[in-house]
Amino acid sequence: MFTPQPIGFVSSPYKDTSSIPKGLGAKHDAEGVLNILPEFSLGLTDIEGFSHLFVIWAFDRSEGFELLGKTPADIRPHGVFSTRSPRRPNPIGLTVVELLRRDKGSLQVRGVDMLDGTPILDLKPYMSSIPQEKLRRGWLAEAEARKG
Ligand SMILES: C[S@@+](CC[C@H](N)C(=O)[O-])C[C@H]1O[C@@H](n2cnc3c(N)ncnc32)[C@H](O)[C@@H]1O
Repeated sequence: MFTPQPIGFVSSPYKDTSSIPKGLGAKHDAEGVLNILPEFSLGLTDIEGFSHLFVIWAFDRSEGFELLGKTPADIRPHGVFSTRSPRRPNPIGLTVVELLRRDKGSLQVRGVDMLDGTPILDLKPYMSSIPQEKLRRGWLAEAEARKG
């Protein structure tokens, strides 16, 4: 195993968790900046060509974990590995953002759902080759259908 080291920090409009949209139909279109530390900025070479990025980050302000719990999207409990709960055994977050522009080591992005100051662990270009008709959305699709 390895000891994760932040490659940068998120500048986000969200200062507390209550201000982040949650639950079914929540829209994540807030803009933020991924500030990459100077010692890692060479690694951003060629990133401008990608429209979307995976941001892998640390839930640095969540405590402990819950293997079975409720989420804001449903009244029924679900296993942590079938949710995006911040309270997980390894508190790692994954967010897909749209890359709007790069200014040296700063990436202006749309779609942040993390708190201001969140440590970034990694960035990868977003790619998906899974056709829409092959995707299943499990309990989330059922919760959406119940809501109508
Ligand atoms: C449901 S999680 C989803 C995060 C990410 N998209 C994922 O799937 O891993 C988003 C929530 O995590 C919480 N959160 C955001 N940044 C956090 C941080 N740095 N530490 C702890 N909790 C955080 C907020 O309550 C936010 O609404």
